[in-house]
Amino acid sequence: MISRETIDEIKNRIDIVDVVSDFVSLKRSGQNYKALSPFTNEKTPSFYVVPSKGIFKDFSSGKGGDGITFVMEHEGMSYVEALRYLAKKYGVEVKEEILTAEDTLSQNERDSLYIVMNFAKEHYKNLLLHHDEGISIGLSYFRERGFNDRIIEKFELGYSLNEWHNLEETATKQGYSKSVLEKAGLIIRKNDDTTYDRFRGRVIFPVHNLAGKVIAFGARILSKEKDQPKYINSPETEIYHKSQVLYGLFQAKNEIRKQDFCYLVEGYTDVISLHLAGIENAVASSGTALTEEQIRLMRRFTENVTVLFDGDAAGVKAAMRGIDLILKGGLNVRVVLLPDGEDPDSYSRKMGSSEFQHYLKSSTTDFISFKINLLSANISNDPIKKAEVIREIVNSIALIPDPIKRSVYIRETGDLLRIQEPVLLTELNKILIQDRRKRDQEYLRNEPKEPLPPIYEESIQVSKTDTLTMVQMQERETIRLLLNYTESHVDDERKVLDFMLHELDEVEFNNPVYREIFDEFRVKAEQGIRLDNFYFLENGSDQVKRAVADLMTSRYETSPHWSEKYHIYFSHERDEINKISYTNVLRLKLRLIQKLIEDNLDELKATNDENQIDHYLEVQSELKKMQKEITDILGIVVLK
Ligand code: UTP
Ligand code: MN
Repeated sequence: MISRETIDEIKNRIDIVDVVSDFVSLKRSGQNYKALSPFTNEKTPSFYVVPSKGIFKDFSSGKGGDGITFVMEHEGMSYVEALRYLAKKYGVEVKEEILTAEDTLSQNERDSLYIVMNFAKEHYKNLLLHHDEGISIGLSYFRERGFNDRIIEKFELGYSLNEWHNLEETATKQGYSKSVLEKAGLIIRKNDDTTYDRFRGRVIFPVHNLAGKVIAFGARILSKEKDQPKYINSPETEIYHKSQVLYGLFQAKNEIRKQDFCYLVEGYTDVISLHLAGIENAVASSGTALTEEQIRLMRRFTENVTVLFDGDAAGVKAAMRGIDLILKGGLNVRVVLLPDGEDPDSYSRKMGSSEFQHYLKSSTTDFISFKINLLSANISNDPIKKAEVIREIVNSIALIPDPIKRSVYIRETGDLLRIQEPVLLTELNKILIQDRRKRDQEYLRNEPKEPLPPIYEESIQVSKTDTLTMVQMQERETIRLLLNYTESHVDDERKVLDFMLHELDEVEFNNPVYREIFDEFRVKAEQGIRLDNFYFLENGSDQVKRAVADLMTSRYETSPHWSEKYHIYFSHERDEINKISYTNVLRLKLRLIQKLIEDNLDELKATNDENQIDHYLEVQSELKKMQKEITDILGIVVLK
């Protein structure tokens, strides 16, 4: 552990402008500095450094903090790694606090594993480039696959000789103990206590951690021996937990941030082929089926994943499973399915870089279309099949944690399959309720200590084009509640109408139709007239009539069976109208603030005037504060 004094010393010495300048070219802008965001792919600068406060703020990604945070974010380092980096930069002597014997031991052990893995990597690299066998077998294999020197160096590829003790002997001669070689998974100990090299006669793909250190190897066979596995991978070690690692992330992370999406492929060679084709935002879940931890890891760099899988049956199956897991992790999924018999490697080489890049762009579909295409090949006249397809798709949608996104996908599915939304919603609700029951039962079995989590785990994402839609969707919900529960009580004194008029006193609706309705409620109320939905059905403009009719027979009420069947879920709307009105108003305010944040940011980007920049920055931080107050109450995590 780095001592407190050292950390303070580092913090004292940090010059934020200096730290950031090592990675980003800053332009002075008044008292502050400005640049294109290093975290996103923007065209106008919204990345600010404020030296007087020692902070940076990146409005396009939402990241911000001090110099240490910047290094962590930009370089993907841990806190301690960032501290060490900065200590070195500023010549601060790092004093370690005294560790417990156990800490020291495991720290030392980990360090020694990193060191021996690095040694092995250098050894394998060396053999590939300079040893006769390495050159004639390993290197010529890579050449055949079109790997050039640059890519071989970038991925630090290597070769292990077809001998039983080559690595072991070289390493022990250099002073590495057998025990550490064994703990690193490089040699294997047999029952009779003799040992041998794990990787023999194979090309070597090192696996790097985020800091670029080698933590494992994948080794591909070159001969056609039938009884040998195609790949041998490092076992789990102190420094390698395969379910938590994505192959290629170290090489891809900056590009993933810039592009704000990442390709997920199957294997080592797929990642490398994509790099060769000029596509550097690719990772693979090598050696395992995709895990939740790997998805969380991806999420640190982007919210958008494009799954790129082989067009064979196994590829499709893997893609399906991957999609569901990624949806569950709250990420956005798109899919590219290659033609049958092709993998990213074969296909990119067949097509050539620029054509392949174009192919990827043009054949990326969202997961709904992908599933529909795949499942509905011959359903046109088969209602049972069609029902299956619907269930399959809605099952996936039910995994998405964000209800707003779910409703967007439900609508899209309805359009694509020509099915009415309520039918899909019924199906969705069935699944959600089943899940909920399952969770309830599990919860009760496990002797609850904490209250049951809410049905919806909300995570709302705001992307530029969506903000206005989100605002309007929330406006729609407000008007729906207002129309359906105008005279229901929210507390002893106030009814929904009074409550909303009061709370939304200064709010102007964005959607013209909803604005018209709300303003009419307001104006009439000031004259002491209380409107109801029939008033609008009779007196409203055509648009208003249509909207009101639509919201009255709102989807929550379309089926009378729902309230009996799913009463735990829907019939509560009237009973809980006080709570619902309250959160709805907060949500609407949240959306409106998010819209203001975006508008303010546009102004900020557009100006070059120092004083204005300061003003907009201040407004921005005020708005963010307001946003946080609301999200704290609602218990929502706003990403970005
Ligand atoms: P592939 O068979 O597609 O391998 O398996 P590949 O890396 O694309 O190699 P090429 O194209 O045949 O040269 C995909 C991934 O599955 C894992 C590896 O991570 C591989 O990259 N795998 C495959 C294993 O771990 N062990 C195996 O025996 C096979
Ligand atoms: Mn392959």
